[in-house]
Amino acid sequence: MTKKAQVLLILGSQWGDEGKGKVVDCLSAYFDIAVRFQGGPNAGHTVVFDGKKIVLHTIPTGILRENCSAVISNGVFVDPDVLKKELETLKTCGIDYKGRLFISYLSHIILPFHKILDEIIDKKGEIGTTKMGVGPAVDFKVLRKGIRIKDIFSSDLKIKIKERLEYVKSAIGKDSDINLDEEQIYDKLARFGDFVKDYLVDTQLLLKKAISDGKKILLEGAQGILLDLDFGTYPFVTSTNTTPGGAICGTGLSPRDIDVILGVTKAYATRVGGGPFPSEIKDQSISSKLRELGGEYGATTGRPRRVGWIDLPLLKYSKNIGAIDFIALTKVDVLEKFGKSFYVQKYTIDGKELMEFDSSCDLYKVNPILKEIQPIKIKDLIQEELQTEVVILSYGSDRSDVKIDEKFLSLFL
Ligand code: IMP
Ligand code: MG
Repeated sequence: MTKKAQVLLILGSQWGDEGKGKVVDCLSAYFDIAVRFQGGPNAGHTVVFDGKKIVLHTIPTGILRENCSAVISNGVFVDPDVLKKELETLKTCGIDYKGRLFISYLSHIILPFHKILDEIIDKKGEIGTTKMGVGPAVDFKVLRKGIRIKDIFSSDLKIKIKERLEYVKSAIGKDSDINLDEEQIYDKLARFGDFVKDYLVDTQLLLKKAISDGKKILLEGAQGILLDLDFGTYPFVTSTNTTPGGAICGTGLSPRDIDVILGVTKAYATRVGGGPFPSEIKDQSISSKLRELGGEYGATTGRPRRVGWIDLPLLKYSKNIGAIDFIALTKVDVLEKFGKSFYVQKYTIDGKELMEFDSSCDLYKVNPILKEIQPIKIKDLIQEELQTEVVILSYGSDRSDVKIDEKFLSLFL
């Protein structure tokens, strides 16, 4: 018998909000562990559970299945307040997560002033960050000034906080109205330490052991490939790596541990915040109708998402950067209700045709060539153009609306 696949990586192939939460929720019925490995509370994964809409920001949506454990690994930036709220939501929904939630000692903490720095740094709203403080927390990590969950338990936590606050004051000026109260931050972290200590483990070891025990692991990416810090539409990107490299650094797994990569693709495109979007629908009467039909409002910020058509030159790029093996196609039902749909077949730029985006190309300058297509044919179009099989079709908001190809499941089962 051939060896079964054990580790599945799920990535968004556009700018996030492709419907990863729902796909992960359905697939986690067949997996032992679901892992969040990058990003933080900037993500919003929406799942309809028992008729109720649940939005999770830091906890993998796998937690909604009793058979599945949930891991928040070292690459995730944790906001204590957001995590506590999510756990309350789970409790309210009657989900017992005791013994099924594991958090890395090495995860970095989003400190209260990171959120304010996020506002200050993106004051003009050009990037349109979620203002959840993830970017500044990443800055601190890179500056070697981050505070990890592990550090809460060290005897020099107070000194660490003091040093960080001095750094912030020197960077933004003493007179700013940011609350930099050392004692308050210390108390907050100490309380968080108490709250979180029962969930802390070495998640890298836990995952390695799970693999050697033959367990099945699902790695749940946040945001999308086009928001990747290195390969996305920089500077209009998120602050972490949403591509396979992010899953490696963010968990401590080896590239050889990942067996299959599934790209989640929405039948149209959306983007929240600034940045190039060649297929964006400029006519507001059309875009607002599609936005309403698809419920395209940010799960974290409530902002209306910009909407457009699927874009083959960008999807081909994502397939390449994400090393995507299979595709899950979502929200074809929305396009069918909408009645009409288009796709970007290619770009023209400087008198040349471009079938696939690459990093030499300026997305602000391309001229997208649109073709009309019946929504039902989008699956075939993607399979042909990307030479990638669509193995999951999500055709509505309920769990029962997600159809998973048996052949795909049999790779793991
Ligand atoms: P940040 O991640 O909050 O720094 O935001 C940077 C950019 O990524 C902004 O355009 C955000 O709207 C976008 N972004 C961050 N997280 C998500 C997400 O989960 N879905 C969609 N867009 C996101
Ligand atoms: Mg989202």
